[in-house]
Amino acid sequence: MANRVALVTGGNGGIGTEICKQLAAAGYKVVTTCVDAEKENLAGWQAERKAEGYEIGYVECNVADFDACAEMAKQVEGEYGPVDVVVNCAGITRDTFLHKMDAAAWNAVISVNLNSAFNVTRQFVEGMRERKFGRVVNLASVNGQKGQFGQANYAAAKAGMHGFTMSLAQEGARKGITANTVAPGYIKTAMTDAIPEDVRNAIVAQVPAGRMGLPEEIARAIVFLVADESEYINGALLPVNGALFTSF
Ligand code: CAA
Repeated sequence: MANRVALVTGGNGGIGTEICKQLAAAGYKVVTTCVDAEKENLAGWQAERKAEGYEIGYVECNVADFDACAEMAKQVEGEYGPVDVVVNCAGITRDTFLHKMDAAAWNAVISVNLNSAFNVTRQFVEGMRERKFGRVVNLASVNGQKGQFGQANYAAAKAGMHGFTMSLAQEGARKGITANTVAPGYIKTAMTDAIPEDVRNAIVAQVPAGRMGLPEEIARAIVFLVADESEYINGALLPVNGALFTSF
């Protein structure tokens, strides 16, 4: 692995932070996107990572905006070199029953969680084809596989992620590009902390593993999938959910 550049969208989030750390530990040059560096205190986040021994870059970009992603790609490739690895991790929730959901809640989730995969990956896929190497991992969710109360928008976006993955896998296979999906279950982050406690406890009670997952357990799957040696693993969906939802 020759000093490859990895871009992680939403890399400063609960799961994203661990992805950045484990990729950096594995020898990648890692850059994360954030929407508003000042508001999200990216300088502080970066300093914390540095204190832990990880050098991680960041760039401001609203991944829901195609033109902003084009600018971001120029900036990242200018500063760090060609991007070999894209991890589409940025995601939000706007949970509410469909009969109460407004268009803003639908559109925000589809834009940030699904359109972003196109907006970001599109910027790098031609370069990957030219260089005959690329690794794309799209973060989906157990709830994209099975649906969930209050998540018509989120489940639709996350299910869409895997359709995107499967198509890109086929298109890229002869060009050294792989695309895979990681589908986390309930992972301990700010996103799941926001679920009402009684609801969250009821969900966790249904997890065969008997506990929530950890961000590290998601990051581990991603480092495995993006490795140079993982070329034949292509178009797969890897659930990391403590057996909450099993299928084949
Ligand atoms: N299973 C069974 N019944 C459910 C249910 C569930 N999961 N969720 C809600 N209900 C039922 C309630 O028991 C209630 O029934 P009664 O009317 O008979 O009392 C009814 O639906 C209404 O529920 P609420 O009173 O909770 O309604 P609400 O409008 O206040 O909230 C909700 C509904 C938004 C779905 C809320 O329950 C909620 O936030 N649920 C959690 C949704 C969730 O799992 N989100 C995942 C976020 S983390 C994430 O997305 C990461 C990832 O990838 C996993």
